[in-house]
Amino acid sequence: MATTPRRLQFGVFFQGVNSGTIWKLPESGSQTDFESFRRLAQTAERGLFAAFFLGEGLRLREHFGRPHELDVAGRPDAQTMLAALAAVTSRIGLVATQNTTYNDPADLAHRLASLDLLSGGRAAWNVVTTDNAWTGENFRRGGYLDHADRYRHAEAFIRTAKEIWDSWHAGADAPAGPVRHEGRHYTVDYRPRLPRSPQHRPVLFQAGDSAEGRDFAARQADVIFSGHPGFDDAVAFRTDITERTLRAGRPADAVRIMPASEFILGATGAEAAEKREWVRSLQIGPQQAIAYLEQFWGRPLDGYDPDGPLPEIGPAVEQTSETRGSGFHGAKAAELTSQWRREAADKGLSILQFVRAKAGRPDGSFVGSYSEVADLLAKYAHAGAVDGFNISPWLIPTGLDDIVNHLVPELQERGIYPTEYRGSTLRENLGLDVPGSSEPYDSALTQPAPAKTESAHP
Ligand SMILES: Cc1cc2nc3c(=O)[nH]c(=O)nc-3n(C[C@H](O)[C@H](O)[C@H](O)COP(=O)(O)O)c2cc1C
Repeated sequence: MATTPRRLQFGVFFQGVNSGTIWKLPESGSQTDFESFRRLAQTAERGLFAAFFLGEGLRLREHFGRPHELDVAGRPDAQTMLAALAAVTSRIGLVATQNTTYNDPADLAHRLASLDLLSGGRAAWNVVTTDNAWTGENFRRGGYLDHADRYRHAEAFIRTAKEIWDSWHAGADAPAGPVRHEGRHYTVDYRPRLPRSPQHRPVLFQAGDSAEGRDFAARQADVIFSGHPGFDDAVAFRTDITERTLRAGRPADAVRIMPASEFILGATGAEAAEKREWVRSLQIGPQQAIAYLEQFWGRPLDGYDPDGPLPEIGPAVEQTSETRGSGFHGAKAAELTSQWRREAADKGLSILQFVRAKAGRPDGSFVGSYSEVADLLAKYAHAGAVDGFNISPWLIPTGLDDIVNHLVPELQERGIYPTEYRGSTLRENLGLDVPGSSEPYDSALTQPAPAKTESAHP
């Protein structure tokens, strides 16, 4: 483990579909309101965040034939949103989650290279493979790939994309190439249409937690977006990824790790705890509590009182819902639901109270006073457990204000958070090497980022 603390980086993260982010206040705007995103992105940049990060949901989840109570409808395409945000920010990285299962490599490589070039070297791609049949129903290929095949396909996809980006040599005024790939699912015969960006090519994030997913990240990714924010879990995950990265022939520290998280802060611990109750009440209302349980029970539960005990009835799910996209395996339903029933009864919790306690990210909810949370994050930094956190803002458009105004200065005082952006590209700000070189990236060697107007900055 590290002897000098790691400098932590923050990203702001929006899930593809969720009820964890609250859009309910009059000033929240909506998911289709650019102003709400502009304000958050500029706040994050004022707080020296490394990344503005969008998840991808290719389809609204459905639940007994209607849109899922836990999802929020109305989400613009990630690359379009990030391109718009590029115009009103100048340093923050722009991370688009895009799947390798339903895209084509030459096309996606070009779109991401476009964002990278136009943003002055700030683009990143969060590579996901995406759960299968549920989203596949809207694609020509359908739900055609099983888990192992998805990762084999992803590997070929990434190699092809990297080859495309790398084949326009530094300083050249015309592409080399062509890049050719003849595979099971696509063919490529392509000359890149864009020169390198100031950071050479988009930074690669990866999200997918199986052994195959972790090995894939160890071979290909710059950063892992992990689901392991709890301290012990984060330390174990780091050890595992370091071993895999070394086995993949890369330096131990080649892959940065940023787990999903949520921060609920106050001047005192008591104030933060009170705020958590308020946040949870906005995130999970009676209808959402029932819908949450229905996911695991696999049957309508709308006849149950949200203020009453958990349903005595057993779950109807025998298998699924991996194909439905939730990642929950039905075989575990009976075990899980009876465990929850016991837990709620022991603690005397109603359905609503129980779901609110489970909601959010139990492991990755950092709740406390600014200094308590800063001390806890210092523990992560000193142990080298993570390189930062991807933070889901719970309130729009002010969900980062507390973090930027109060937590960031506490972290800076502890020497574990940047006091300025290192450079203009995401690669620089994350301290990543330039691809194909062992030297950390130096922007002075390449073209500067495009000038931005004063009014664009917070
Ligand atoms: C932290 C995290 C974030 C993810 N975000 C997305 C996403 O935004 N869109 C998506 O389609 N899949 C997302 N995935 C799911 C992956 O695409 C993948 O389908 C899933 O994790 C199954 O692969 P695995 O068994 O390797 O985990 C995410 C997975 C993780 C762990």
